[in-house]
Amino acid sequence: MAYENIVFEVERDIATISFNRPEALNAVNSATLNEFSDVLDKLERDDAVRVVIITGSGNKSFVAGADISEMAYLSPLELRAFSAKAHDLFFRLENLPVPVIACVNGYALGGGSEIALACDFIYASENARIGQPEVTLGLIPGWGGTQRLSRLVGKAMAKELCLTGRVMDAVEAKELGIVNHVFPQETLMEETLKTAHKIASMGRITVRAVKQCVDRGFDIDLRTACALETDAFGYCAATPDGQEGMKAFLEKRKPEFTGKLI
Ligand code: CAA
Repeated sequence: MAYENIVFEVERDIATISFNRPEALNAVNSATLNEFSDVLDKLERDDAVRVVIITGSGNKSFVAGADISEMAYLSPLELRAFSAKAHDLFFRLENLPVPVIACVNGYALGGGSEIALACDFIYASENARIGQPEVTLGLIPGWGGTQRLSRLVGKAMAKELCLTGRVMDAVEAKELGIVNHVFPQETLMEETLKTAHKIASMGRITVRAVKQCVDRGFDIDLRTACALETDAFGYCAATPDGQEGMKAFLEKRKPEFTGKLI
């Protein structure tokens, strides 16, 4: 599939997805969701990519939301399907075995904020503006904002943000724990890549286990979640990387991880 609204690049073991509709501040329409689905098809089948970065083209906007100029002409049923489709895609994104970093380089509003929230963590530029302004359009967040935001910042703050549509600057988003780090616009991608390469240098199986344990354990009771961690710790320790990492420490050398199961 040829992409018109997305740029998808793989360099070594890092994949970058850039939403690319600069004339609409990278707002996401149905065609973009179809292209995003195709990218996910590729990533789900790929075992060379170790980390995915999601960003927006240009230096003004990550994604300014779902495309209002398309939504305004959809019927209520079509709008419902638009919401359901994005939810399916974002669950697929969350379920990728490799970490996904949102590199928020400007506006992340409405659906843009929701895409970032479906990533494993967010790095942002100083000019980032993040929020759920749907209420000002007579709508509510439709791609997970009421759910993922409240799980991240708590119910009261999520309600305030979604009820007022207030847009946060990067500093506030960091204070609330939505954004992990804030960088100047010029160094944001470089810093994101640094972290991506660092993660890519770790064992593939352990990286996947960390992501799965945090995600699968988050919404269940602590005892069951810790049992998941115990099992994952056991199998990680049994892999060649687990053995190699401990041995390398004792031999005072850098470990050589292979990502092999046996
Ligand atoms: N959909 C469609 N087009 C959009 C857009 C969007 N979400 N956001 C911006 N654009 C378009 C503008 O219409 C404009 O196009 P024209 O030049 O053809 O008029 C172009 O991008 C540039 O935008 P502005 O001129 O408005 O730029 P600005 O710098 O003055 O303002 C902004 C930037 C504050 C982000 C403003 O564009 C804005 O408020 N955008 C809408 C943000 C929003 O409400 N997002 C939520 C969408 S609803 C949603 O996402 C629902 C959901 O949960 C699924």
